[in-house]
Amino acid sequence: MTLEIHPAKALRGECTVPGDKSISHRAALLASLADGESRLENFLDSGVTRVMLRALTSLGVRWTLEKHVLTLHGNGPDMLRSPQEGIDCSHSATTMRLLAGALAGANVACKLDGSNGLRRRPMARIVDPLRMMGVPIHSSTAGTAPLLIHHRPGNKPLHGISHSLSVASAQVKSALLLAGLGAEGTTTLVEPGPSRDHTELMLATMGVKIACDRSAHRIVMDSPDDTLQPLTFRLPGDFSSAAFLICAGLIVPGSDLIIRGVGLNHTRTGLLDALQEMGAGIEILPKPSEGGEPVGDIRVRSSDLSAIKVEGSLVVRMIDEFPIFAVVAAIAEGETVVRGAGELRNKESDRINSLQRELSVIGIQIHELPDGFRILGRQPIRGGVQVRSHGDHRLAMALCVAGLMSDEAIVVKDAEIISQSFPGFVDQLRGLGVEVIG
Ligand code: S3P
Repeated sequence: MTLEIHPAKALRGECTVPGDKSISHRAALLASLADGESRLENFLDSGVTRVMLRALTSLGVRWTLEKHVLTLHGNGPDMLRSPQEGIDCSHSATTMRLLAGALAGANVACKLDGSNGLRRRPMARIVDPLRMMGVPIHSSTAGTAPLLIHHRPGNKPLHGISHSLSVASAQVKSALLLAGLGAEGTTTLVEPGPSRDHTELMLATMGVKIACDRSAHRIVMDSPDDTLQPLTFRLPGDFSSAAFLICAGLIVPGSDLIIRGVGLNHTRTGLLDALQEMGAGIEILPKPSEGGEPVGDIRVRSSDLSAIKVEGSLVVRMIDEFPIFAVVAAIAEGETVVRGAGELRNKESDRINSLQRELSVIGIQIHELPDGFRILGRQPIRGGVQVRSHGDHRLAMALCVAGLMSDEAIVVKDAEIISQSFPGFVDQLRGLGVEVIG
């Protein structure tokens, strides 16, 4: 699919974003391990969450998803069955990593595989510590998918470990916690930074004894004696989807918009801190929390922005937002520098390189660094050109937002990937007055 995005006048109005992708993945998987019926409103119905749901079907889990309400019947981990064929995780690293941990903990034999893109992403970071817990799991010699999890004869128990993660990664942390649910003893994890903590919050609401020392990024979880309680809550809107609308509102002159019901978990909102440091006019209107997750409405007014330096734990708290942040940095005054963000090379695309390649097509020069980039602001955006998504939903949406500020329409190719995380993105842009053809 190709989208033609036209330069925009002021964006005004109200909008919402679909349910949080990370929370949707976790809620579906953890509800399958619980005992009883879970009901989750505003569940994200998108490409990647359908991949997780299809995987759960092949493991024998029954669910329905109607009008964004997921109803799922959990029978505990012992009732999961080995699928007849391997599970295709398609493009979804979250599905692969979280399932690997959960299936290891439940002693379910399985092959996990995915698209060529997913086969390039690093899996040794879960395979090695899972092995330390006693999981018979194998990857390719390069430490990538396919992953093979074998059955443990005689249900030989796993054992909790103390492990320091080499990168701050919520997917790795979650995989090890999910395996730890089926292990004897305590699982202790220490991260180099504050990765998203949705798994910890959800496990706590399900009755698991889990303690988090936020300043030391240390999590201690006891293996539960009882079955997990089912989940009932409304998922917050995905902050990482809202990020595109927030940034669009900031950079398009004269804009004033409100995005309702967005998740504001501190481990996810680093972009707000970065933008506020740049001078952004953003107001947060808090709402009651949902499922232990803070929620609020976000009001954005277009603002004059100045360059900043992004590094350290802020990088972790805005890890998915760098494609759109780069577009904002190109509009701001001065040179923005991002360091300590080498993980961007392990995402749906090598985001440092794909940003450099596609932004240069629209006239934005980025200087690529091994662990980040430098970008000079106040660069005019050149339209009348075609850019590519590189199979990366967030790059595609960032390029669409850049199109709002160009001198002529920009054509974004292979834009169907956007529906992996933000179905309705184009409709939301149209609702704010943007002309999009495609
Ligand atoms: C996610 C964690 C992050 C993020 C991804 C979703 C999650 O990945 O980039 O989009 O749901 O746990 P890492 O854990 O690899 O940093």
